[in-house]
Amino acid sequence: MADLSKLAEPGSPEELLVRRIDFGRLPRHVAIIMDGNGRWAKSRGLPRVEGHRAGVASVRETVETAARLGLEVLTLYAFSVENWKRPRFEVWTLMNLLKEYVRREREALAENDIRFNVLGRWEELDPSVVRELRATVEATRHCRGLSFNIALNYSGRCEIVDACRRIVADWAAGKRADIDEETIGRYLYTSGQADPDLLVRTSGELRVSNFLLWQIAYAEIWVTGTLWPDFRRRDLFEAILDFQQRERRYGGIQQPDPAEDVFASGRLPG
Ligand code: IPE
Ligand code: IPE
Ligand code: MG
Repeated sequence: MADLSKLAEPGSPEELLVRRIDFGRLPRHVAIIMDGNGRWAKSRGLPRVEGHRAGVASVRETVETAARLGLEVLTLYAFSVENWKRPRFEVWTLMNLLKEYVRREREALAENDIRFNVLGRWEELDPSVVRELRATVEATRHCRGLSFNIALNYSGRCEIVDACRRIVADWAAGKRADIDEETIGRYLYTSGQADPDLLVRTSGELRVSNFLLWQIAYAEIWVTGTLWPDFRRRDLFEAILDFQQRERRYGGIQQPDPAEDVFASGRLPG
């Protein structure tokens, strides 16, 4: 059970939200498309990269809150394969912010039992970035609390392609698994983790932008107009509260009426 005093100041508006959360029905995995950094900066007359800089504080607060809530997995979409289309200076700044973040947070993550993982073709990033990422993955490998995934040089389609390639390579090496949903799930970057229950996107855009295409098959989607640098713990609480109002049917129906089921009642039609 989460310690409420660590989640919100007593008497704060956040505390009112936290008190309404049903801790027995938390989403196991929350995935977030962090969007709107550029618009946040532009609305203040600042260069886009200042939005990315400001977004780091939202990352820190979201990771800390997810851990304190007791979520199992948090995935943040930080850089897509498509984001290479951006100006070189913007990409360079993003990579530097990332390097600084993983270096600075390494110890705090380990101390808080947060296991850091990277999803995507991240080993293709600049070696200086790969080194910092790997060091943080290693430093938190033993952690058993929140699994914190960061999606970097990530594409949902590439993830499925990579899974297929690895399955074929294993077949060639004599390790033959049946081709079914369980096997494909096992070869994805998120192998062993629950699929996202809740997908959040900030900045109001209504698209998935190539994020976790396989895993979000039945995720509940929550979109907020809030821009990522303004995203705070209250926004995460609101997303979870909204999630807890949803009826997840997975294609079934909630309360079948036996009187309507002619097969069950023996009253066959016609
Ligand atoms: C999200 O903010 C951060 C990344 C995609 C790296 P954007 O940079 O996409 O901000 P907008 O959408 O242009 O406002
Ligand atoms: C999605 O945001 C990618 C990340 C958050 C890393 P984008 O801003 O790149 O997505 P589009 O271009 O609006 O679809
Ligand atoms: Mg964007």
